[in-house]
Amino acid sequence: MCNYQVTLAIFKPDLVARPVSLNLVCRMIEKEGLSIVCRKTLRLSLKEAEKFYEEHNGRFYFERLTTYMQSSDINGVILGGEDAIKRWRRLMGPTKPCIAKRDSPASIRGRFGLCDTQNSVHGSDSVENAMKEINLIFPEFCWKEWLRSLK
Ligand code: PPS
Repeated sequence: MCNYQVTLAIFKPDLVARPVSLNLVCRMIEKEGLSIVCRKTLRLSLKEAEKFYEEHNGRFYFERLTTYMQSSDINGVILGGEDAIKRWRRLMGPTKPCIAKRDSPASIRGRFGLCDTQNSVHGSDSVENAMKEINLIFPEFCWKEWLRSLK
């Protein structure tokens, strides 16, 4: 059964600052068979980062995470493909790079993650959050046009 999805990926500041690693991540995406539907470089304000991670407000890492995400340029990426949400999160690997290096060394965080904050990539965790996050990072994304292109 066809389950074509789009998901939001973010290449975080630590990855954007390492162009060779960034290229290797793009090759991993290609090899996985996911397509890059849109990609852009942007810099979030603190307010935008807080909005993006609002469901984590109150967690001990919230301030660290939002401050980090607005500290420098990021890449917003819309990835498309069969089961894209699950496949991208599998490719990312576990949240903590030390766990990723042990349990999933070939994953993106296993290969390139630096620490719990500088863990290189983000990926939406559900269809609802993918839509919400795409709308936040790509307010110009035209869902109608994208749906038409699938027919
Ligand atoms: S996940 O990926 O949503 O299942 O991970 P979760 O453990 O729920 O973490 C939610 C986001 O918080 C980030 N995070 C942290 N940032 C900084 N420091 C610490 N200690 C930390 N722990 C978790 C984690 O990377 C998730 O952000 P994204 O952007 O989704 O990776």
